[in-house]
Amino acid sequence: MENIEIYPDVASLARAAAEAVVKLAAEAITARGRFSIGLSGGSTPRTLYALLASTPFAGRIDWANVHIFWGDERCVPPNHPDSNTRMARETWLDHVTIPASQVHRMRGELDPGPAAEEYEQLLRTFFTQAAGPRFDLLLLGMGDDGHTASLFPGTPALHENIRWTVANYVEKLKAWRITLTPPAINAAAHVRFLAAGESKAAVLHDVLRGPYLPEKYPSQLIRPTSGHLVWMVDTAASSLL
Ligand code: 6PG
Repeated sequence: MENIEIYPDVASLARAAAEAVVKLAAEAITARGRFSIGLSGGSTPRTLYALLASTPFAGRIDWANVHIFWGDERCVPPNHPDSNTRMARETWLDHVTIPASQVHRMRGELDPGPAAEEYEQLLRTFFTQAAGPRFDLLLLGMGDDGHTASLFPGTPALHENIRWTVANYVEKLKAWRITLTPPAINAAAHVRFLAAGESKAAVLHDVLRGPYLPEKYPSQLIRPTSGHLVWMVDTAASSLL
């Protein structure tokens, strides 16, 4: 059974998510001296990222021991309006003291294939476990088509079971993406979906309560192997559960 937390609105959802980041960061840094977090793009996490850059949350995290990764990236330069890296930097990372060497972005400015291969090597160097990149926390969003990261319905990356990072052509967007693969995401210690708004209600019902159809609903592929999955949703998104 999934662990579903329902919040009245995006603001309270973001505050709860920020508290979870603080808690998991403190636990990881105490236990292993570092905290690795994978970020999602899109609009939902913006409120969370802005909270993490503000009082009191910014003062409750030991930034010197935080490592930032991404779950996916658009194939654009880091200063492009569509860049997930740019969004996270503008809302959060440029406002806290994480060492630049600990912000591990996917280089969307490269050709998709080489960018994915480069990120795969970066992950394999950072995470020594052979089983997969065991992020302390991986944040995910979900599109109203059921995609997560850049695992879109009907795309080749859904079937990748060896690589941790791949380039994925998304026909409906007529665009390449770089994305973590299902096994990479499922290797995380903690995975938290953040989903809010009426537009997610129908797909959230289908993902959580409907038949297992991962080709149509890629978010159903996310089942951490030995980690914890929590869905953090607002009342509007959960209205059909
Ligand atoms: C991206 C994200 C993507 C996002 C969903 C939900 O690169 O766009 O990683 O997977 O999380 O599209 O986006 P919203 O939060 O904007 O609904």
